Amino acid sequence: MTDPAYFERMYAASDDPWHLDDNPYEQRKHALTVACLPRERYRRGFEPGCSIGLLTALLAPRCDELVATDAVAEPLVAARRRVPDEHVSFAQSALPDWPAGELDLVVLSEVLYFLSAALRAQVRQHVVESLGPHGHVVLVDWRHRFDEAACTGDEAQAEIVEAPAFVRLVTHVEHDFRLTVLGRA
Ligand SMILES: C[S@@+](CC[C@H](N)C(=O)[O-])C[C@H]1O[C@@H](n2cnc3c(N)ncnc32)[C@H](O)[C@@H]1O
Repeated sequence: MTDPAYFERMYAASDDPWHLDDNPYEQRKHALTVACLPRERYRRGFEPGCSIGLLTALLAPRCDELVATDAVAEPLVAARRRVPDEHVSFAQSALPDWPAGELDLVVLSEVLYFLSAALRAQVRQHVVESLGPHGHVVLVDWRHRFDEAACTGDEAQAEIVEAPAFVRLVTHVEHDFRLTVLGRA
């Protein structure tokens, strides 16, 4: 797993280390992510690694309840300011920690490849156990290898996509990122 201190250092150096708020690449990727949601509305969504809440703001109108978490406390201040809606809760929490109860939307965007293989296996198990019968899982990942990542996005996604519990509903692949939507098999 990527050292949590790495993310603390990133946020100490910048309010938005990945330029989620001002990079057209990220804005388009977030727009594509919500455009690929098969349903208009979800009862209860979970978005770990929410950072400063850019994607959260797009998911919030699609969910009756949305749980958004990040391993680092600092970006959650900006996320809460950006998405003050009462049906959205923010908490500092690190994967593989997982909320109790049934979910019908899980969005794992640019976070899986930071986890070790053992932690990714725990996350996959949580998804399998918590996703309701009509639920959807959204995976979005940078595809290239980089120093801080435990694996590539393609490798991380393959582990979940191949789980017999799921069927693939959407596959969108570009040179830099892969977007996958899964449903219950
Ligand atoms: C590259 S940003 C992605 C932000 C957002 N999900 C998106 O796609 O725009 C990765 C975020 O995941 C958080 N993160 C890293 N490891 C995590 C973990 N184990 N659990 C929860 N969040 C984590 C980081 O602090 C950072 O805010």
